[in-house]
Amino acid sequence: MTSRDSSDKRNLTVVGLQWGDEGKGKIVDYLAGDYDAVARFNGGSNAGHTVVIGKARYTFHLVPSGALKRKRLLIGPGVALDPGILAEELELLGAHRIRTNLMIDGRCTLVSPMEKRLDEFFEGLRGPLSLGTTKRGIGPSYAMRALRLTPRAGDLFTGFDARPVTKYYESFGLKSGEFKAWLRRSTEVLDGMLGDVGSEVDRISERGGSVLFEGSQGALLDILHGSYPYVTSTQTVAGFVPASLGVKASRMGKVLGVVKCYTTRVGEGPFPSEVKGVLGRKMREAGREYGATTGRPRRVGWLDLVALKYAIRINGAEEVALTKVDVPAGLKHFKVCVAYSLDGSEITDFQRAQGHLDEVVPVYEEPGNLFGSSFGDGVPAQVKRLVRYLERSLRVKVGIISYGEERSRTVGQ
Ligand code: GDP
Ligand code: IMO
Ligand code: MG
Repeated sequence: MTSRDSSDKRNLTVVGLQWGDEGKGKIVDYLAGDYDAVARFNGGSNAGHTVVIGKARYTFHLVPSGALKRKRLLIGPGVALDPGILAEELELLGAHRIRTNLMIDGRCTLVSPMEKRLDEFFEGLRGPLSLGTTKRGIGPSYAMRALRLTPRAGDLFTGFDARPVTKYYESFGLKSGEFKAWLRRSTEVLDGMLGDVGSEVDRISERGGSVLFEGSQGALLDILHGSYPYVTSTQTVAGFVPASLGVKASRMGKVLGVVKCYTTRVGEGPFPSEVKGVLGRKMREAGREYGATTGRPRRVGWLDLVALKYAIRINGAEEVALTKVDVPAGLKHFKVCVAYSLDGSEITDFQRAQGHLDEVVPVYEEPGNLFGSSFGDGVPAQVKRLVRYLERSLRVKVGIISYGEERSRTVGQ
C-alpha cells in the first residue's frame, strides 16, 4: 500500500452544492493564495465564475479562478474546451496585464461550432421541454466524445485522421472549409499550452506542493446524480476529480462545498423552494442574479436543506463556504426548506423525491431573519445564529462566510 502523500492533505476540492452559481469563483480566488496550482476538472465554458476586485469584475469560463493570484493554472481532461472562448478569455486577461501560466490537458474534449449548432438544434427539438442550456455546445461535445467522433485537444498536433469527424460535420451541414479554418485557428490558440495535467498534479504533490481543484456547476446539475434530465452533461461532484484527472483518490484532499444562503437556478427544471412574484424579483435584484455566461435572469428561491443534505452526502463535503449572506439583509423574512410534503407524507431524502420535485410542497422553517445585518463590526449576531443553525442541521462546519461580491468581503471562521 502506498501512503497518502502529506501534501494531499493540504489539497482542496471546491464544488458547488446547489444548481450552480453559488459563488465558487469568489471562494476559489479567496483561497488560491494558499495553493501552488488551481485546476479545473469538469464542465466547459457553460461555467461563469466571477471575481470582483475593487471596480474590476472578471468572469472566468475556462481559465481557473486562481488566475488573479498568479497561480499555476491547469485544465484537466474532463473539461470541454472551446478554443475560441479560451482565446477571448486569455486576451481579456492580457488586456488587464494578467499573464497566465496555463497547462491544458491534451485529452480535453474540443467544442467546435458544430456542437454549438447541435446544442441549438436539440433544444429546438425538445420544444416546450427544452432544458434551457447555455448553448455553449457542452452536451453535444460530450456526446460526440462518447461516440468517439470529436477531436481531442492533443489530436490537433498529432496528425489524426479527421475523415470520420469531417463526415459527421458534413452530414450536419458544416462546410469542410469552415471545419479546416476552425482546426487551424484552434491549433494556433492551443500551441505550446498542452501537457499531461494528471502528471503535473502528481509532480507538484510529490515536490510537497498543493493543488486546489475548482469545480464548475453544482451537485444538482450532475449528469448522474442531479435532477435529470435538467442537468449538465458531466459529473460535477468531487469524486470526479481523481477519475477525470487520472490521479489517485487521495489527491482530491478535503472537500469544501460552496452554498449560497438562498437558492438560484438558471434554465429549466424543477425547483421546489422557488419564490416567484414580487418577492422573487426583489431577491433577484438584491443578489444581482443574472447569468454570468448568458445574462439570463436566474430563478430564485429559499435555501433547501433537503437538497443540500443530499449534495453534501454525494460530494463527501466536510466543510461549507456560505455566500451572499448580505443579500437577505434587505428581507424581513428568511425561510429554509426543511422537508417536502408529498401526498400527505413528509420526505427528507432528496433522492426519494426525485421524479416528484415538481409536485412536492416545501415545508419551511424560519431560523430568524437576517434583516438589517451589517458586517461593520464583524459577523453580526443574526448571521452567527444562522450559521449555528446550519451547522446543526447539516452536520458540517461553515468555515467561510462571504458577505459581499468584493474579494475582501469574506471571513474565515
Ligand atoms: P459561481 O459560478 O459559483 O462562481 O458563481 P457566479 O460567479 O456565477 O455567481 C455568483 C455571483 O455572486 C457573482 O456575481 C459574484 O460576484 C457574486 N457574489 C459572490 N459572493 C457574494 C456575496 O457574498 N455577496 C454578494 N452580494 N455577491 C456575491
Ligand atoms: P457555474 O460553474 C448555473 C445549467 C444551464 C442549464 C443546464 C444545462 O457558473 O456554476 P448546459 O449548457 O450545461 O448543457 O446546460 O445546466 N448550467 C449552469 N447553471 N451555473 C453554471 O455553471 C451552469 N452550467 C450549466 O443553465 O440549465
Ligand atoms: Mg456561475
